[in-house]
Amino acid sequence: MKYIIFNWKSYLNLPETLKLSNLVNKLPNTKKYKFIYSPNILFTSLIKSRFPKSNLSTQNIDIFGRGANTGSIDISLIKDLKIKFSLLGHSEVRTNLLETDQLVAAKLNQCMDHQITPIVCIGETLNIYKSKKTKNFLNNQISTIFSKKNKYQEVILAYEPIWSIGTGLTPQMSEINEICSFLMNILKKYSFKKINILYGGSVNLDNIKDILNLPSVDGVLVGSASIKASFIKFFK
Ligand code: PGA
Repeated sequence: MKYIIFNWKSYLNLPETLKLSNLVNKLPNTKKYKFIYSPNILFTSLIKSRFPKSNLSTQNIDIFGRGANTGSIDISLIKDLKIKFSLLGHSEVRTNLLETDQLVAAKLNQCMDHQITPIVCIGETLNIYKSKKTKNFLNNQISTIFSKKNKYQEVILAYEPIWSIGTGLTPQMSEINEICSFLMNILKKYSFKKINILYGGSVNLDNIKDILNLPSVDGVLVGSASIKASFIKFFK
């Protein structure tokens, strides 16, 4: 079973979001894929009431609880909506909202406390990739985000090279496979109930089959391609 996660970012307005949600909810429920989609936070409550069976993810949470926290995305309210997943540490959140690996670690713990499955995003810049320091960089990200003292429930890790997101560029298939296998080896030193490793960054109709065929890749996290009906219909 491969995870197929659609990250709709802030691409879509409400009618567009409902239209695509309808398409996702019509996809066959097979053992081959598990579909999760992440609409803009503003629409999650409505989508959940119109399509109660959808597997929704938020695009972010914060670490403040219920209370005097203006502007907060409170994880307990996400749980009340029966949303089961949240992206953490997406590169756009890191850039726009100054997310750090330390903050991702704190959010990860919040997810564990509230039984929300985190989709933790990590990935290197183009400079790091070119200077062949990717493994070292990812290793550091993992050791900051995860603790060997903790016992984690289910976690999804998305390897998303920053230089690949929204650019049309991807690493070679062999590199994606090697990095995902490298990440799995590192994560074996930690305690997870379940861990899956996904690839994200310029996944589209031309490369998705090859990526999903890689033995070390448990699924994909798709941004811009996933707002096209033709992409969603690929899984019919
Ligand atoms: P992309 O985005 O598919 O548009 O490259 C992926 C992501 O941001 O998760």
